[in-house]
Amino acid sequence: MLEVEGLDAFYGDFQALFDIGFTQKSGETLALIGANGAGKSSLLHSICGLTSETGTIRLNGAEIGKLPPKVRAELGVSLSPEGRRMFSSLTVRENLQIGANTGRPGPWSLDRVTELFPILEEFANRPASLLSGGQQQMVAIGRALMANPDLLLLDEVSLGLAPVVAEEVMAALASIRGESQMMTILVEQDVSRAIAASDCFVCLLEGRVVLDGVSEGADLGAIGHAYFGEDDA
Ligand SMILES: Nc1ncnc2c1ncn2[C@@H]1O[C@H](COP(=O)(O)OP(=O)(O)OP(=O)(O)O)[C@@H](O)[C@H]1O
Ligand SMILES: [Mg+2]
Repeated sequence: MLEVEGLDAFYGDFQALFDIGFTQKSGETLALIGANGAGKSSLLHSICGLTSETGTIRLNGAEIGKLPPKVRAELGVSLSPEGRRMFSSLTVRENLQIGANTGRPGPWSLDRVTELFPILEEFANRPASLLSGGQQQMVAIGRALMANPDLLLLDEVSLGLAPVVAEEVMAALASIRGESQMMTILVEQDVSRAIAASDCFVCLLEGRVVLDGVSEGADLGAIGHAYFGEDDA
């Protein structure tokens, strides 16, 4: 379970998040939605320990909010960052193996990742820089999974991908949804797709939670109003 309470986050003097609060149950996928600059990446970064933050972040009952990023990773927080961030001179296999550095036991291994994304087996020995955008995205997700996380943070996994490739990535994620009680926070620009792929959602506007709820049967009109900061009249 993930419990976030009263979370404020800062980049120097700039406050990016204000009093964020939500809970997520084990096995659930949470869609984090909001316009450009709303604070979605900042929230993922705060959970990883990459911003300066105050407030409470509890993962499976343990307060992780004050811990350095490396320790949070060892406790099961794993990020697939916006823009993928490959080590471009390393091979696909080497990029994936970096994810296993936390040494956490669990179901995810090179074999399991290449079962999920078979193309990565074919390209295992190629430098990651030679892969297509979609293939690099698969490496980024695979690398995050290699850490055997309790909490998988996926920032904009379909951004810039051709629709058919985006669907392929989302289908792979759907196939592992809730596996081993892993929680996932999915940042996704396409609101309908995000809602369809999740159990619950949080909508941010200018660094604040403006709406949250259960994804099944969610009112997309109300989410649209919250997303753009319009009065829900
Ligand atoms: N490293 C940083 N230093 C200073 N300000 C930052 C930094 N990163 C983000 N910000 C600011 O924090 C706010 C939230 O940005 P964030 O990247 O979290 O938004 P986002 O919802 O992920 O947007 P997008 O959909 O464009 O990725 C923005 O005003 C942004 O300019
Ligand atoms: Mg972002």
